[in-house]
Amino acid sequence: MNRLVVGAQWGDEGKGKIVDILAKDVDIVVRYQGGSNAGHTVCVGDQTFILHLIPSGILHPGKICVIGNGVVVDPASFLEEKETLEKLGIDLDNRVLISQKAHLVMPYHKVLDTLKEESIRKTKIGTTKRGIGPCYVDKHARTGIRVCDMLEPDLLKSKIEHNVAEINRLLKHHNQEEFSANEIYETYLKYAQKLSPFIENTVYYLNEAWKQGKRLLFEGAQGCLLDVDFGTYPFVTSSNPTVGGLFTGTGLSHKALDRVMGVVKAYTTRVGNGPFPSELTDELGDEIRNRGSEYGATTGRPRRCGWLDLVLVKYAVMLNGMDEIAMTKIDVLDGLDEIMVCVAYELDGKRIEYVPSSLSEFGRCKPIYERFKGWEKTAGVETYDALPKEAMEYIRFIEEYLGIPVTYVSTGSKRSQIIAR
Ligand code: GDP
Ligand code: IMO
Ligand code: MG
Repeated sequence: MNRLVVGAQWGDEGKGKIVDILAKDVDIVVRYQGGSNAGHTVCVGDQTFILHLIPSGILHPGKICVIGNGVVVDPASFLEEKETLEKLGIDLDNRVLISQKAHLVMPYHKVLDTLKEESIRKTKIGTTKRGIGPCYVDKHARTGIRVCDMLEPDLLKSKIEHNVAEINRLLKHHNQEEFSANEIYETYLKYAQKLSPFIENTVYYLNEAWKQGKRLLFEGAQGCLLDVDFGTYPFVTSSNPTVGGLFTGTGLSHKALDRVMGVVKAYTTRVGNGPFPSELTDELGDEIRNRGSEYGATTGRPRRCGWLDLVLVKYAVMLNGMDEIAMTKIDVLDGLDEIMVCVAYELDGKRIEYVPSSLSEFGRCKPIYERFKGWEKTAGVETYDALPKEAMEYIRFIEEYLGIPVTYVSTGSKRSQIIAR
């Protein structure tokens, strides 16, 4: 069975932990979009790994990890991650494949990302400044540089020269230091050498693997509400974490996907700007942030925290045809007297149960809550029957609202802290 694991909120739902758990029963784990803006945390024993580009299956020996064509690859970030993993005794050789068709994040993408955030753009998105947006812009403007272009020095050189001339004009205008095309070229030639053992035609590789009956697990990055088409535009990322991104980001057809699992945090968080109807801006929000260690795995920024918003999650269920939910971080809500869940919005005096397309309308949405009695302790619980009855009631309500089952409940960051139903 080939399964997609996708974030059903604004990212950081705990996808890394869930993928790590499911990875033991598959052959290949595949990333299909995003880049090193992602930060997927996996705790194994006393060690904590934060994966940005390499799929979260890497911690299981022997599993193949594919970085698909829809991912934007920053070679510097890849090599850094490789080195960190190797120092911890994890071997990448013959296990990691990078798509020839994936686009490369270039140094000027990162500078442009920062420049746009800090001085050009009127409304700051609060990006991770990893160059993701500018890299996808180049891809769609057909001026991007692909992984396979790195292996053709003349082509690489001319593409870099062309792009650098353009970016330097902008940098000059903003009194910023200009780039040397030659320096970038030399650096990327070295990257090409280091990356070449990993480069593969992953489109054929994955289709062949699928035909042979290999078990595939797809790892979404970010979350559905950060999707460039379906998220809270423009406060989104520049790719499609939702299910369509899987097909364009791997070259597999819809026939290769059997099941879709949404990962849902028991409350809601968001890093970066944009409306967040159920946000808690009071002490309780701070308390949840502290209990849940809600600080960005990539940027270290404090995450905004609030109650679970089921209107958003139901939208994500619809967009992806989700079959099941993995609920994470329920333990973070332990010990609260009362827990709220947003079940609808009030928009200009009317009750609505959908996510408006207009950002100003979404920004005016006031949450309508259902109240739940809190529970004492779920932390570390490993069987469903051992959960407090109030936590079971919380889960039951979520299943009923969404119309799909919660098949996994995560009760802590460790591998063992999971309930499989
Ligand atoms: P991802 O981007 O979706 O993979 O999520 P992140 O790794 O950015 O953030 C999730 C954080 O929550 C990480 O620090 C995980 O170790 C942690 N985590 C995952 N599941 C649980 C859980 O059930 N309980 C607690 N307390 N922490 C968890
Ligand atoms: P994972 O995979 C949470 C957010 C940024 C910003 C917006 C655009 O760990 O869940 P970008 O750098 O992508 O142009 O930033 O998207 N963002 C994430 N938020 N988790 C992520 O990834 C994110 N990746 C990007 O904070 O609001
Ligand atoms: Mg994350």
